[in-house]
Amino acid sequence: MQINRLSDALGAEITGIDVGALDDQKFATIHAAFLEHQVLVFRDQSLAPDAQVAFSERFGPIETRPNRPYILPDVPEITVLSNRRADGDPVGVINAGDFWHTDLSFAEIPSRATFLYALEVAEEGGDTEWSNMYLAYETLPEDTKRRIEGLRGVHVFDRRKNPRTRVDAQYAANPDAVYGLPIPDATHPMVRTHAQTGRKSLFVSPRFVVGIDGMDDALAQPLLDELFDHQTRPEFRYRHTWRKGDLLMWDNSCLIHIGRGNIKPPGIRHMHRTMVLGDRPR
Ligand SMILES: [Fe+2]
Repeated sequence: MQINRLSDALGAEITGIDVGALDDQKFATIHAAFLEHQVLVFRDQSLAPDAQVAFSERFGPIETRPNRPYILPDVPEITVLSNRRADGDPVGVINAGDFWHTDLSFAEIPSRATFLYALEVAEEGGDTEWSNMYLAYETLPEDTKRRIEGLRGVHVFDRRKNPRTRVDAQYAANPDAVYGLPIPDATHPMVRTHAQTGRKSLFVSPRFVVGIDGMDDALAQPLLDELFDHQTRPEFRYRHTWRKGDLLMWDNSCLIHIGRGNIKPPGIRHMHRTMVLGDRPR
């Protein structure tokens, strides 16, 4: 097994390993690399849906929120992300993650890790980009660190309540079917301490955080704008161009990410996603 750092900001590539056949020692190495590098890229995988679920489950309980669109028939732990259409209808989520976000941060118990496996990639487009929220927190001005200490962000799933986003085109005909699901808002500390590493990170994102708990918007919105601006500085980021057979996993406790889209037709990008739950942010 070879582990190669991918950028100054975050990420490592792991080669020479089949994640479908891991012994405990290899798993321990991968787990340590995951905590250190935040994003892991496993190249050249050949991963059946059940094997992806089994690997994901080693990191926590699989997220199986009801009413998720585009679950894989027979393997409901997997969500299909795809721009393919069958008889004109999408077979997967087309524009997953088109604003900077952390997966499931709108939930009381957000996702610990997301796993995304590339079955098909387009020749051009479909990159994913991450930003390191340890670095974002550590590089905040000291007075900003003091201002946000103890504050809680309000995380909202419904895009119609977030002027920094827009309703996705895929759901424009019936936004209520997706955004109208009975998903309660959550509040989480804006400075999060990682459950395993103990490091502090900035835990906000423009996709989900619409306000600050107990703070007037006149004060809260400019502060959020400042944080959102800061958290995507280029030196915090790594952008991944996918290859067929890539399995990526990333740590949602200390990263934000965005899907860059712009897949050039007739390219098809077809992926299987699993997520595992983590701890209550503190
Ligand atoms: Fe995402």
